[in-house]
Amino acid sequence: MQKIAFVGFGVVGQGLAEILLEKKQILKKKYGYEYKVVAVSDFTKGSALDQKGLNLSKLLKLAKKGKISEYPGAKTGLDAVRTIRQSGADVIVEVSYTDIKTAEPAYTHFKAALGAGKHLVTTNKGPTALYFRELAALAKRKKAAFRYEGTVVAGTPVVNLTGTCLAGNDITEVRGILNGTTNFILTSMEKGKSYEAALKEAQRLGFAEADPTADVEGFDAMAKVIILAKSLMGADIGPKDVKRTGITRITLKDVEEARAAGMRWKLIGKVKKTGRGVAASVRPEKVAVTDPLASVGGAKNALTFVTDLLGEVTIVGPGAGRKETGFALLADLLAIDRTAK
Ligand code: HSE
Repeated sequence: MQKIAFVGFGVVGQGLAEILLEKKQILKKKYGYEYKVVAVSDFTKGSALDQKGLNLSKLLKLAKKGKISEYPGAKTGLDAVRTIRQSGADVIVEVSYTDIKTAEPAYTHFKAALGAGKHLVTTNKGPTALYFRELAALAKRKKAAFRYEGTVVAGTPVVNLTGTCLAGNDITEVRGILNGTTNFILTSMEKGKSYEAALKEAQRLGFAEADPTADVEGFDAMAKVIILAKSLMGADIGPKDVKRTGITRITLKDVEEARAAGMRWKLIGKVKKTGRGVAASVRPEKVAVTDPLASVGGAKNALTFVTDLLGEVTIVGPGAGRKETGFALLADLLAIDRTAK
């Protein structure tokens, strides 16, 4: 029985809770997976802890009203770190908000969880991008799992795919569409929509970051490039090492000219092994319509892995969304459970 504590309970955390609830029987029957949610702590909605287990339907109802601390009979009023320490959980699901510049407060939560020897499952790009090596070393020292599938293009398998199915290959380059908002904007512009109108629509549909600068100026894609460089290539790079340009200067005229030449503008995140390390970038690139990445439109994401044994392998899928990101966490929870058996 896996004992789970949530740190953060917004869209993604609730997405996972809904999946756990809906699939409870099938997860037990098909994978022998059983869980108990023992605690939740959210910065704005409050906290609840009960080592006997919290009822997920009740929890989700309270979360929608922003009143987790009204959970009857539970211990309340605990901040994230106390929740991690007192919950008795084996796995911490860290889904508090992402800050790509400071990584806090999530970085503190990560260290508290791994430092206490608890497994950590996350979608939080901040600490994963900025402190990957240190966190991976701490996890190893404490014999805890550190799993972060959802940090790169939601539940579309990237970390788990490369770590298992592509294991044994040398991955020399990864390039792809790592941000749904910008791909949606560029695809809409191909249909004649203005940049501003397309961005507004992306915000309305809910996949743009709270501050869309992170999307349109390439910071979100940059964090994913850093995570790929560090985790797949062992590279020691930070934000300053990624050549970054956003899409704000692409005009309708540029989009039309590319189309006439059989090309499409895409915001491409790339990391490539060089003789002396890696070269990493995020920038708008004109991609030939024959390239698999060119056919990936709207908010979808895609990644091409260049490998020594298989050549190029491309995966296409969603890069954001409640259930789509919740699934990334589920995949990691199941992987931890498999290893424990
Ligand atoms: N804002 C991001 C995107 C969501 O548009 O892809 C996931 O990082």
